[in-house]
Amino acid sequence: MERLIVTLDGPAGSGKSTVARLLAKRLGVEFLDTGAMYRGITAWCLDHGIDTAGQPQRVAEEAGKVSLRFDWTTDPPHLWVQDRDMTGRLRAADTTAAVSDIAGNSGVRKVMVELQRRIGQEHPRLVSEGRDQGSVVFPDAQVKFYLDASPEVRAKRRTLELRAAGQEADERAILEAIIKRDERDRNRTDGPLVCPAGAKRVDTSGLTLEQVVDRLVGEVGKVVGENNGGAATPPGGPVSGQGRIRRIAGRVLSLKHSETPVRLLWWHVFYSLFWFVFCPLYLLRVRGAQHVPVCGRPVLLVSNHQSFLDPILIGTATRGRPFISLAKASLFRNRIFGGFIRSTNAIPVERGAADLTAMRRCVDLLRQGRMLLVFPEGTRTPDGTTKPFAPGTLMLIRRARPQVVPVAVEGAYDAWPRKHKLPRLGGRIAVMVGRPISSEELLADGAEAALKRLRDEVEGMRLEARRLFER
Ligand code: DC
Repeated sequence: MERLIVTLDGPAGSGKSTVARLLAKRLGVEFLDTGAMYRGITAWCLDHGIDTAGQPQRVAEEAGKVSLRFDWTTDPPHLWVQDRDMTGRLRAADTTAAVSDIAGNSGVRKVMVELQRRIGQEHPRLVSEGRDQGSVVFPDAQVKFYLDASPEVRAKRRTLELRAAGQEADERAILEAIIKRDERDRNRTDGPLVCPAGAKRVDTSGLTLEQVVDRLVGEVGKVVGENNGGAATPPGGPVSGQGRIRRIAGRVLSLKHSETPVRLLWWHVFYSLFWFVFCPLYLLRVRGAQHVPVCGRPVLLVSNHQSFLDPILIGTATRGRPFISLAKASLFRNRIFGGFIRSTNAIPVERGAADLTAMRRCVDLLRQGRMLLVFPEGTRTPDGTTKPFAPGTLMLIRRARPQVVPVAVEGAYDAWPRKHKLPRLGGRIAVMVGRPISSEELLADGAEAALKRLRDEVEGMRLEARRLFER
């Protein structure tokens, strides 16, 4: 698995934590909240009667002694100190008030930096958020960001946040506290808050959360794309003509990627051609293509199945990242047609019985970090609506632990109903791509709930697409 460390540093209130969490989700990588580590030690000391300001030596010793770990099976990961889940204590008022004593303690910082680097080795695909991640902890990170916003904007955000939570908030006092905290963070000798060398500075003052995340995903895509010959650039993002040519050329020249360069070029050409066909013919609309994780963990696209056009429509919508799909084994018997669908990453599956060989192959491919498209209804819908999802998909989710991305196709049934031999030329089609869901989150309430949730999300998006047509 190739290493991808993305660091996000910046002052309090720049929106880092939320942005970092969403960015990690969108990239399909893990998220490290280093502020939580300082908070965890603070809460531990407070709960054990240690004076965080008056006993710096004792605090540092304690930090070196206790075990501090994240439980990566929960989302977001819970923080454990020794045998206590400290997650509920991290944002408490006494912890927040004392945490800067701990963050300014050099002995504690030494222990935390070491631990963060170890986490970076064990979880080599990571968005790490803090104050010193790009400068001290991961100076060799593949992508570094520094998020900023004016103190006034940050104070306003914090005030609104507190008021929304039903608490009183004095904007002037908050602004003063922010300015003081910035000063302390910037001027401390150990791990001061700086814009790390090579970091991209992003001012979030005039941007919405979505806009910030979109921008960062785009930046990561550019860097990873350049390093990988463009193989991992985000789909759906705004790309200039020149940028696209450079990316395609990069793919062709890339020998590192698991896809052969010729296949990647073919994928791009094939689906770009269909884009030019589908847009005028079916007024094709695509929503949410940017939700497809750029790279990193395996991805399972889960879609409803309306017609033979579906895999091509979905490939057209998400053409920045190739996926593997399943096709009836009988389709591969004709050598020319079989070779053609194989060239678009289709692999044969025997219909009727559970094809364990194909399933195992899918699990292997997912584990290699590939993207796979499945249609859990098993067969094309007889009437356009989404039928119940069969449990086979769950096996893939349980074994390969992919990010699961719901996809809905609407209008393809009208364009090519099941009983018709050929498609109609004309009509309207939309492809909607939902936000990725982690396997852990999906499976948390059991198998039945997972299948129902997926089907409901897909059907919900399908109905939304229908409403789009009526506008
Ligand atoms: O991001 P936060 O509010 O949860 O951070 C808590 C405190 O820890 C804050 O005072 C900044 C400090 N911190 C730090 O000094 N270095 C880090 N890498 C992360 C947080």
